[in-house]
Amino acid sequence: MQNNQLLEKLGSLTVEEKIGQLVQLTGDFFEGDLDTVVTGPLKKLGLHQNYNVYNTGSILNVTDREKIIQLQTDYLEKSNHKIPLLFMADIIYGYRTIFPIPLAQTCSWNFESIEYAASIAARECYEEGVHVTFSPMVDIVRDPRWGRVMESSGEDTLLAKKYAESMVHGIQGRQGENSIPADKIAACVKHFAAYGAPVAGREYNAVDMSEHMLREYYLPGYQAAIDAGVKLVMTAFNTLNGIPATGNKWLNRDLLRQEMKFDGVLISDYAAVEELIMHGYAEDEAAAAKLALVAGVDIDMKTAVYANQLENVINGNEELQQLLDDAVYRVLKLKNDLGLFEDPFRGLKESRPLLATRILSDEHKTAARSLAEQSLVLLKNEQELLPLSKQAKIALIGPYAEETSTLGMWAIKGDERDTVNLKTGLLKHVDPEQISVCRGSHLLPDYARDALGKYVDKLPVETVDEDVLLQEAVRKASEADVVVLALGESIYQSGEGGSRTNPTLPEPQLKLLHEVSQLNKKLVVIVYSGRPLILTEVAAQADALIQAWYPGTMGGEALANILYGTANPSGKLAMTFPRSVGQIPVYYNELKTGRPNLPENGFYRFASRYIDEANEPLYPFGYGKSYTTFDYSLLSVSRKEMSADKPVDIEVSVTNTGKYDGKETVQLYIRDQFASVARPIKMLADFKQIFLRSGETGTVQFSISEDMLKFYGTSMKFESEPGDFEVYIGTSSQETPLTFNFALRAGEHDE
Ligand code: IFM
Repeated sequence: MQNNQLLEKLGSLTVEEKIGQLVQLTGDFFEGDLDTVVTGPLKKLGLHQNYNVYNTGSILNVTDREKIIQLQTDYLEKSNHKIPLLFMADIIYGYRTIFPIPLAQTCSWNFESIEYAASIAARECYEEGVHVTFSPMVDIVRDPRWGRVMESSGEDTLLAKKYAESMVHGIQGRQGENSIPADKIAACVKHFAAYGAPVAGREYNAVDMSEHMLREYYLPGYQAAIDAGVKLVMTAFNTLNGIPATGNKWLNRDLLRQEMKFDGVLISDYAAVEELIMHGYAEDEAAAAKLALVAGVDIDMKTAVYANQLENVINGNEELQQLLDDAVYRVLKLKNDLGLFEDPFRGLKESRPLLATRILSDEHKTAARSLAEQSLVLLKNEQELLPLSKQAKIALIGPYAEETSTLGMWAIKGDERDTVNLKTGLLKHVDPEQISVCRGSHLLPDYARDALGKYVDKLPVETVDEDVLLQEAVRKASEADVVVLALGESIYQSGEGGSRTNPTLPEPQLKLLHEVSQLNKKLVVIVYSGRPLILTEVAAQADALIQAWYPGTMGGEALANILYGTANPSGKLAMTFPRSVGQIPVYYNELKTGRPNLPENGFYRFASRYIDEANEPLYPFGYGKSYTTFDYSLLSVSRKEMSADKPVDIEVSVTNTGKYDGKETVQLYIRDQFASVARPIKMLADFKQIFLRSGETGTVQFSISEDMLKFYGTSMKFESEPGDFEVYIGTSSQETPLTFNFALRAGEHDE
């Protein structure tokens, strides 16, 4: 449809119909006859009795082809305006083929693989009729107490930018045009803004941060998604410096639309418009509707506020009427970009024969396995215990040994019956006689189960007494050459609403670990979790330690390939692992302090330090081991003094000095020595991946441009300042064998 036709369509709508386009409801509003709907869902949500559900613009979390066809058909028959419905859903890291959780994916540092995974998720959505996915989430996270760190790309801004871009390209395509082609759907970047920084890691808590911090670290991820053409943005639940994000005009109009140039649809988070009242920001529903509309929220997700209030709110106010029209236009444009006016079913009816071959196809499963292999992080490997010898007798023990509930909280269409568990994965490498398996402990202590509320019903029922499980584990472990302990938090302990004050392994599992480690057997520990757990005690007892995250449908196969060396670990942490809870938040790019804790000063009380804990985390950002080793040497640095048009070009030689072929992620960090605002001790500026056969040497090139030195100064301008810079190149944020410095000179510089 041409623009003028869209405008005509808009002009033909009544006010009630326009408002309907801005309302998002769930599928139950369309089930049964009108009476059932009026006395059921409509009443429950508080929608006025005369609300016509056949004006509603979009549907939340209906994800099945048959249902979508039925709802769309019924809707088009009964609505006056005949504008097709939009179907939106949380397909965060896979539709039916589930990939590792986003935090894990980012540990691959392989954004091509991430884009490919996103394109597979989009393809499966397309085939089932979903139009919009509420992904990617690019909120920067520094606090593992917050449950939603699992959905983020971690603590670093450069990784968030790359993640945002690759996800939007994977979901929507790279065509850069308005229309979204077949096999692609619309992406929605979230949660605007800074949802990842709630005070004390407590879900939905206030966010308080300086504008400098917001611009420098938190906004670039959203901006990268916008630059990649993302069609929707979702508001955040939190207040930002006292103003709820969903009613924040400065945030959504001045910053998001004017400055960041977003011209797509802004959707509220679930019930966030109504929650403006609970925040104490709007005194009633009418005020909430006005505040949200003025702030620029186009779609009200699952509340009655727009539907009940907007008509009165805009009555007699031309400015607000115009805002309503603008919002409706954006929704219609999104429908048009998806081609819904030409085909409300987006090929759904015709694509049936394809379904059997593409959903969960071998191609999709191979991609899921490959990304899982790249996402696992080898944290420890004493005396090269891993990879395991196929001759070794293995005792596979722990609540995750045979567990298929390893998809993570947001895999709404994932089916555990498709999931390869660890035991099944291992049996692809060795005969059953080689492995003895037992549960070893309950997954959670009773009090932690109770705290999960409705999710408790989804947990495995523990039928056997803990002591009996433990005795069996000790017996099986004593008979084995190597013990593999598969431990972890429950998937329901992380994700939305999964804040924890003490993010450790559950106590029954720590007891199991302790008992088994007394046997002095070779001990491999695998940790499944949605966040960095405090693993200090675990690491001390394990000979080898693998962070498995929630690795998705093919997780068991990926892990087994790593354990037996068919795949060599290459994952690098996208989020710091604290040594203790008291260190939180701990992240690599902290600001310099006036009293740094320098090792050469020994114990010095009046330095920035703890008296009962080290400053350093257990495992730093960027860290992850391989079965092989890599040596670095600096081949060349093009200049010691750079200017805007003369970058510093660097060549690094990397040699695989170990026995295995492997992939290394070469990381380049920069420290700005002096500036008009304090700068971080180092910032990731670039990275490159290189695959090297055992004994092979390769070269990696970097180029540091003036753009990479820019930051937000006191006047909130993004610019560089002349001065001295230190460069660190290496294998993690802490292990950087290559360093050199250079200077940025103002203006032209003669070599
Ligand atoms: O997309 C999600 C969001 O991340 C959290 N609240 C609910 C939304 C829709 O399900």
